[in-house]
Amino acid sequence: MPKTLIRNGAIVNAHQSQKADVLIDGEKIHGIGAFPDEVADRIIDATGMLVMPGGIDAHTHLDMPFGGTTSSDDFETGTRAAAMGGTTTIVDFAIQPKGTKMRDALDTWWKKAENKACVDYGLHMIVTDLGDAGLEDMDSLVDEGVASFKLFMAYPGVLMVDDATIFKAMSQTAKNGALICMHAENGGVIDVIVQRALAEGKTAPIYHALTRPTIAEAEAVHRAIALAEMAGAPVYIVHLSSEDALNQVREARDRGLPAFAETCPQYLLLSIEKLALPDFEGAKYVFTPPLREKENLPKLWDGLKHDHLQVVSTDHCPFCFEDQKILGKDSFAKIPNGGPGIENRLQLMHHHGVNAGKLTINRFVEIVSTTPARIFGMYPKKGVIAAGSDADIVIWDPEAEHLISAKTHHMRVDYSMFEGFRVMGNAKTVLSRGVVIVDGGAFVGKAGRGQYLRRAARGGAWK
Ligand code: URP
Ligand code: ZN
Ligand code: ZN
Repeated sequence: MPKTLIRNGAIVNAHQSQKADVLIDGEKIHGIGAFPDEVADRIIDATGMLVMPGGIDAHTHLDMPFGGTTSSDDFETGTRAAAMGGTTTIVDFAIQPKGTKMRDALDTWWKKAENKACVDYGLHMIVTDLGDAGLEDMDSLVDEGVASFKLFMAYPGVLMVDDATIFKAMSQTAKNGALICMHAENGGVIDVIVQRALAEGKTAPIYHALTRPTIAEAEAVHRAIALAEMAGAPVYIVHLSSEDALNQVREARDRGLPAFAETCPQYLLLSIEKLALPDFEGAKYVFTPPLREKENLPKLWDGLKHDHLQVVSTDHCPFCFEDQKILGKDSFAKIPNGGPGIENRLQLMHHHGVNAGKLTINRFVEIVSTTPARIFGMYPKKGVIAAGSDADIVIWDPEAEHLISAKTHHMRVDYSMFEGFRVMGNAKTVLSRGVVIVDGGAFVGKAGRGQYLRRAARGGAWK
């Protein structure tokens, strides 16, 4: 087994930082310490660099049919872009089409990833229909390492399920140890507001945001947590976007309930004005929940700092502006919902979190890697630099300057939500299970090397 030695770096884990070398044997970390006599096949000098566990993006949508089209990154382009930004594991969402078996959807998503994934990937299952056999279907997916299910309280007629279905699914996870991830927005009410807006001729992208009030998110978060409490199961709120919704999570956690939530860089850094950009440019920022009023942003940062929010993922769901977002030119309700970000999460969180003094470097590692590994049943294989863990490592140059732009990014999409953002801190070298896949900022990995991750049930949300 080839050995790699990473010398002279500062190792940053969620629990501590230390100056030490990392010895990698094959795919695993062999040890941390001083190895002066080690004859390694490859020595990487990490002087001045941070040596961190590879990022884990627990919320991506690659090659996903949605909104009358398909997200523009597939498992090859999406995971390559992820690697370039220091992310070495993703958890993507398979979708169970109504009236079909979840098991078939799992096969479909395995095929999408086969020979394409450049980094390791797990899968959540989006449940649209429990039918007669759905609950047993959930158990058999858990046996296949699908340890989490997403349910939608939004998108009526497409993905939304009712409270009874949510409660049944949560009750099943109380037995099988999986985790319910909730898209929490009151879809029925939003639909009424959307129809009213359209009837009044309000068709521009800004109405996407104006028809989805924060209280519709907060109400759904409250309901999701109440249903989970009744079912005796934990719950994980995805892409939380507003102070109103955050208050619901914080109150539940203060009561000792196992309620968890993620937010995304777009909700921390962008606000509603983006949707009012001229020439239909606002469509670039149409995703759900929508961007909010500026006042929400510091509250979300504060939530991350104080562990009311536990994870930052991207909700990467790219659609090209020219030929996909345009589907909604005459009605905001037809704009495919989603935005790109898989490549920029660590850059943005490091610059606007750590450099800005809002997060410590250890908390940064915790929210972008360690906690998603724990919550989603991948720890300590992933999410930590420790003996025995997978050698998924990002050698991070904290002083590298980078200009985020669609002209240079690796995502297969024709715009960037963060166009023109200058960041300090970027991935220099990235290893996936001991193999260098990004070298000095250039991709040197291989499509198809990424492996499917069988994730364990009863992960961190259950402790
Ligand atoms: O607009 C979004 N967020 N698109 C992706 C699907 C989802 O709801 O996560
Ligand atoms: Zn969602
Ligand atoms: Zn999503």
